[in-house]
Amino acid sequence: MHIALGADHAGFELKETIREYLLRNGYEILDMGTDSAEEKTDYPDNAFLVASEVAEGKVDRGILVCGSGIGMSISANKVPGVYASLVWDRETAILSRAHNNSNVLCLGGRKLDREETLEILELWLRTEFEGGRHLKRFEKIAARERALCISIEGDGPGETIIFHHPLIQHKVSMIRDKNTSVKEFRELVQEISGLMVYEITRRLPLEKIEVETPIAKTEAYTLAGKKLAIVPVLRAGLGMVDGILQLIPNAKVGHIGLYRDPQTLEPVEYYCKLPGDIEEREILVIDPMLATGGSASAAISLVKKKGARKISLVCLIAAPEGVRKVHSDHPEVNIYSAALDDHLNDHAYIVPGLGDAGDRLFGTK
Ligand code: PRP
Ligand code: URA
Repeated sequence: MHIALGADHAGFELKETIREYLLRNGYEILDMGTDSAEEKTDYPDNAFLVASEVAEGKVDRGILVCGSGIGMSISANKVPGVYASLVWDRETAILSRAHNNSNVLCLGGRKLDREETLEILELWLRTEFEGGRHLKRFEKIAARERALCISIEGDGPGETIIFHHPLIQHKVSMIRDKNTSVKEFRELVQEISGLMVYEITRRLPLEKIEVETPIAKTEAYTLAGKKLAIVPVLRAGLGMVDGILQLIPNAKVGHIGLYRDPQTLEPVEYYCKLPGDIEEREILVIDPMLATGGSASAAISLVKKKGARKISLVCLIAAPEGVRKVHSDHPEVNIYSAALDDHLNDHAYIVPGLGDAGDRLFGTK
């Protein structure tokens, strides 16, 4: 099991105890700090680091320690996909796993001694979620998360993130409708792509800058580091470009030409032109349809071959078959989609899907 650890200054010593215990017992750990009991640390900073590792499936579980454990649990629970529990004895250690399916353990460094901590730790790591009547309750919490716009399918490291935002869902229903005109279809694809990228970029790092307003100097925030590059898979991916560029006008745009051979269903490459500094940028490969996953997987392989390191796939409609293929071929890549559909039909079209995205965008049917 891979575990991320984090603490503030008040939890530092207990974190070190936990760290030694985990290492001694063969766990793989990711220590995200703090490294000192003297230097003051704000608990939300390390709580968010650890919680994000758990939510993104980069580790299996997280452990957080502050003075009481309360601040850590409140902070960690702000990250969707995290179910952090404040545990103070043997019984709550067992219950938090068996009934609540907790994936982050929060402990009070000023409340627990070494012996109590190790007992709690062992129980929390060993206890399995019981499911049954508790599953229904756990699912209500997950449903609440979905109402807050996203759900996370799979347990990483690459995840499938589905956006349930009401505006996205409303527009997806419209593009599914066979009576939607080419003009409307195009506009809707752009709008959905923009709304999705608004959500996807939520985690982009910021840096502080100073600006001078007409009234006074002030601190403000700007995107840190190199920006994004988007890589549409031709043809249908082109339909998503403008919606994204409206939000991120400085993003560079690469192009990959692929089509799916109607007989073999294998992707055939016919064009590839990518930004020169692709290895320094975060790459969004965009294609409305993820069906067998052949095209998306080949496109991701191509951008990897050209040096890209941080890649996500953004699609509008995904089939489970395509999701499995991309996660299997590229386990580190996150898939963002507006919908996860049921299955593929005999011609490898997504059911219910929306038909042929390229034809509907360009009116070629
Ligand atoms: C569509 C779609 C994807 C691919 C998905 O493109 O835009 O690229 O099919 O199918 P897969 O997951 O089974 O590979 P298509 O091959 O129809 O080409 P087009 O965009 O040029 O119409
Ligand atoms: N490509 C599409 O455009 N639609 C599908 O359903 C499958 C592949």
